[in-house]
Amino acid sequence: MQITVDLGERSYPIIIEHACLTSNYLKELLVGRKICVVTNETVGPLYLNDLLTALPHEPACIVELPDGEQFKHMASIEKIFDAALENKLNRKSVMIALGGGVIGDMTGFAAACYQRGIDFVQVPTTVLSQVDSSVGGKTGVNHLLGKNMIGAFHQPIAVLIDTNTLKTLPNRELAAGIAEIIKYGLIVDDGFFEWLEVNIEALNDKDDDALTYAIKRSCELKAQIVAEDEKENGIRAILNLGHTFGHAIEAKMGYGQWLHGEAVAVGMVMAVDLSVRMGLLDAEILKRTCHLLEAANLPLVAPTEMTVEDFLAAMAVDKKNIDDRIRLVLLEKLGKACISDDHDMSLMKLVIEENIA
Ligand code: NAD
Ligand code: GLY
Repeated sequence: MQITVDLGERSYPIIIEHACLTSNYLKELLVGRKICVVTNETVGPLYLNDLLTALPHEPACIVELPDGEQFKHMASIEKIFDAALENKLNRKSVMIALGGGVIGDMTGFAAACYQRGIDFVQVPTTVLSQVDSSVGGKTGVNHLLGKNMIGAFHQPIAVLIDTNTLKTLPNRELAAGIAEIIKYGLIVDDGFFEWLEVNIEALNDKDDDALTYAIKRSCELKAQIVAEDEKENGIRAILNLGHTFGHAIEAKMGYGQWLHGEAVAVGMVMAVDLSVRMGLLDAEILKRTCHLLEAANLPLVAPTEMTVEDFLAAMAVDKKNIDDRIRLVLLEKLGKACISDDHDMSLMKLVIEENIA
């Protein structure tokens, strides 16, 4: 099945299929162009050979980076640049990201910068990257002072989602990806949220049909939002439900200790809780959100090491803020998010405090 991200001349397809990694699609798309494949030490041994058989010719270079969020930094980007320059990639060359969101974000950023921008293809291999990070063109790396603070908008020319690759995905990573799937239900699609409530066990069991449907629906919803607001001047910000709180957890605990999706799960609980306490949302939705996240084996509270001040410090440097006002994604009802910069700080502190373990 195919979904289009409709961005005029920068439109691209998201192909979702079992075993599409070994289809002829890339042979046709990349014929005659120099290719640099970027992967990591975990995913490379699992899927690089399959990918190589799907290319029109040998890649000019393969960059295998160490595995982990802690390596999502400029030093890894330098390694990609080194390989690209040593192998004389030019402006017609293409980079391919084979891996999860860390590899996808970094490869996209390297492609955005190399010779002022070359094409790249996303081949995401985690649930999180298949439903979120590979679509929409946000690329970048972390800085010690903030997550994803250095980056660029750079759309891929295609996203190839082979659901077969999820067979080897560890359960903790599966759950982290499901957090982002639940996010779509909360922010834009109450019917999808209800479907998730019914089908969560099937997703936990990696049931093929359930996973494929959840990935497809998530990509459709994300594609619509990105097509409407590519550079996040408005509605796209709702995709960050729970992320402001979540980024604080990731930064404080050390990148890689808490998974992105786990931190987002706790962040979503905080955002939904704040929405209820501000009188925007029915308390029943908070209960259902916690119930679904728990059923997906996700954490609901922040680690004891965290303080209210840690959260406030992270919020102060959030990319959504305008003129130093903290902007948060909240819920008005199930399936309808809103952006607010008008919240009672004492209420926000209380919500954070009560959602720390
Ligand atoms: P990840 O890339 O670290 O992958 C998770 C782990 O799974 C890694 O150890 C990886 O090697 C392993 N792995 C990947 N595919 C596998 C497979 N098929 N089988 C076995 N193991 C596999 O993490 P992630 O959750 O995919 O992505 C998180 C990153 O994505 C974060 O850096 C986050 O900031 C970013 N992100 C970006 C966007 C965006 O819009 N660009 C959106 C959401 C998240
Ligand atoms: N993951 C948030 C976005 O793509 O905008």
